[in-house]
Amino acid sequence: MLQGKKIVLGITGSIAAYKAAVLARALIKKGAEVQIVITPAGKEFITPITLSALTSKPVVSEFFSQRDGTWHSHVDLGLWADAMLIAPATASTIGKMTHGVADNMLVTTYLSMKAPVFVAPAMDLDMFAHPSTRHNLDVLRSYGNHIIEPACGELASHLTGKGRMEEPEKIVEVLERFFEAGRELSGKKIMITAGPTYEKIDPVRFVGNYSSGKMGYALAEACAERGADVTLISGPVNLKTVHPAIRRIDVESAAQMYEAAMASYRDMDAGILCAAVADFTPETVAETKIKREKDDLVIRLKPTKDIAAALGQQKRKGQLLAGFALETNEEVAHAQEKLARKNFDFIVLNSLNDKGAGFRVDTNKITLIDRQGITPFPLKSKREVADDIIDKLVSLFI
Ligand code: C5P
Repeated sequence: MLQGKKIVLGITGSIAAYKAAVLARALIKKGAEVQIVITPAGKEFITPITLSALTSKPVVSEFFSQRDGTWHSHVDLGLWADAMLIAPATASTIGKMTHGVADNMLVTTYLSMKAPVFVAPAMDLDMFAHPSTRHNLDVLRSYGNHIIEPACGELASHLTGKGRMEEPEKIVEVLERFFEAGRELSGKKIMITAGPTYEKIDPVRFVGNYSSGKMGYALAEACAERGADVTLISGPVNLKTVHPAIRRIDVESAAQMYEAAMASYRDMDAGILCAAVADFTPETVAETKIKREKDDLVIRLKPTKDIAAALGQQKRKGQLLAGFALETNEEVAHAQEKLARKNFDFIVLNSLNDKGAGFRVDTNKITLIDRQGITPFPLKSKREVADDIIDKLVSLFI
């Protein structure tokens, strides 16, 4: 799977840098071409001569070669790579990546990177458990980066806990799985709806909901990474897409999402409807800002069109359609009713009664339901949940 793949291996100043030599060797043995970019602190732990001898390429560390002034182009590296792997990634580099502090060649290359990025943190257990590290990793995840969780075990400090960089062979496996997965949906066109909708009341106010779009965006990245051409119809969210195979259509209201989805779906192989579409919208939109008055304000709402049901009706043979059900009571029964009514091939149930599931959080706990049965999954990151959902979709294409 790694044959011919071009990998930028970023090394930072952690004792685990010594394992990066083994990692580089393992990647090369699998047929990958490896270009190492190392931070100044990384060079304190492992010498560039060891690394250049292993990779048969000069190691890049400075913006300019001190010797002859040659400029090392982070932009070219960003375009060259099929993947960037930062292993080990220190808390400091993770923080810089999160905030775009481009004060060395490695973080600058990261910011220029067009290819998927994998990050293998390595640090002491307390540093890893610190809210700032957890937060930064969450932000990197939201940028679409893949975090290769550190393992538990004895650390350089002789303390035992979570923080050791994952073993090189495991990291290689993650990359192999990633590139293997790349083919399953190649040639398939998939439409995904994500995020909330905003229903205008007047020029400054709207009726909305708490959907963050994280689940839909994770699905879009997961589909694109498996080779699909993705059309992501997104309500207003604070997220960006990473993969170049995602075409994003931004909408605001349920009516706009309906138009965009109806126009797109006919050319698609599958649709995954993850958006939290408003079920009601104000009957009229005030042209000017509604002023405070003594009396109660009554806003009449009218139903929106059910995008899922409309697509379910126009679904052609061979096309797939999947939806979500966020329920608070009699979850399975309600989800099964929606599966039938909206003509979905399967439905992803999440219950607000499950801790860690639903809106805004980075985790989700789902149950996949189709006409054959019910499959519950444990609590996972939204990215891992996206992979479970896409596995289901892939199985239906076969
Ligand atoms: O009926 P309910 O809103 O619970 O159904 C949820 C499913 O239907 C989700 O997949 C959601 O994206 C979709 N939906 C839609 N258009 C609507 C309402 C819901 O596509 N107007």
